[in-house]
Amino acid sequence: MWNQRYSSADYVYGTRPNDFLAHVADRIPPGRVLCIAEGEGRNAVFLAELGHEVVAVDASAVGLEKAGKLALERGVVIETVIADLADYEIAQNSFDVVVSIFAHVPPAIRVPLHRRIVAGLRPGGMLVLEAYPPGQIAFGTGGPPVPELTMTLQALEHELRGLEFIHAAELTRDVIEGSLHTGTGAVVQVVAVKPRAAR
Ligand SMILES: C[S@@+](CC[C@H](N)C(=O)[O-])C[C@H]1O[C@@H](n2cnc3c(N)ncnc32)[C@H](O)[C@@H]1O
Repeated sequence: MWNQRYSSADYVYGTRPNDFLAHVADRIPPGRVLCIAEGEGRNAVFLAELGHEVVAVDASAVGLEKAGKLALERGVVIETVIADLADYEIAQNSFDVVVSIFAHVPPAIRVPLHRRIVAGLRPGGMLVLEAYPPGQIAFGTGGPPVPELTMTLQALEHELRGLEFIHAAELTRDVIEGSLHTGTGAVVQVVAVKPRAAR
C-alpha cells in the first residue's frame, strides 16, 4: 500500500519537516537520530541539514528511495534502512534522539517498539513524537481511518514509561503537510527524555 502511495514523483507529505518537529528542533540534543516510519524522508533530511547523523527506517523501499533523492538534492547524507518495525532491532543506548511522526502501526507492533525505543535511547536522549489520536477520525483530514492505529496520550505515557515527559499534549492544530494531511486535525504530541543515571 505505501509503495503505491509513494509511487508518484511528488512528496505526499511534502518536503518540509513536520511542523511540531521543526518547532522543537532547537531542543534536540546533537548526535545520532533514528527516524521511524520515515517515509519519503522530509524529517530525516531536515535533521541532517541541522548537522545530525540520521538513520531513517521504513518498510517502503519506494519512500526511502525518495528520501535518499531528497537528501542528495539538499547536499546531505542520511542512512536509509528498509525494515518492518515489527522486528526492527534497536541496540541499547544507541541513539541520542528518536523521531516518530505519524508512525501509525498496530498496537501489537507499537507497544513492543516503544519499549525498544526507551531502551535504545542513550541516557539524556530524547523522543519527539506526533501522531493522530482517535478523535482525528472525525476530522477526516488525514491519518488512519481506524482507532486501533491511533494513539492516546494515556497509552503513550504507559508504553513509554521510563522516559520523563517534558511536553505532553493532545490538541487541535492545522496540519497542512502534503496532499495527505490537509487541514485542522487532532494530534497527540510528546517530547520525552531518558533520565541520566542517578549519581
Ligand atoms: C503517515 S506515513 C508517515 C511518514 C513520515 N513519518 C512523515 O511524517 O512524513 C506512515 C509511514 O509508516 C510506514 N509504515 C507503516 N507500517 C510500517 C511497518 N510495519 N514498518 C515500517 N514502516 C511502516 C509507512 O511505510 C509510511 O511511510
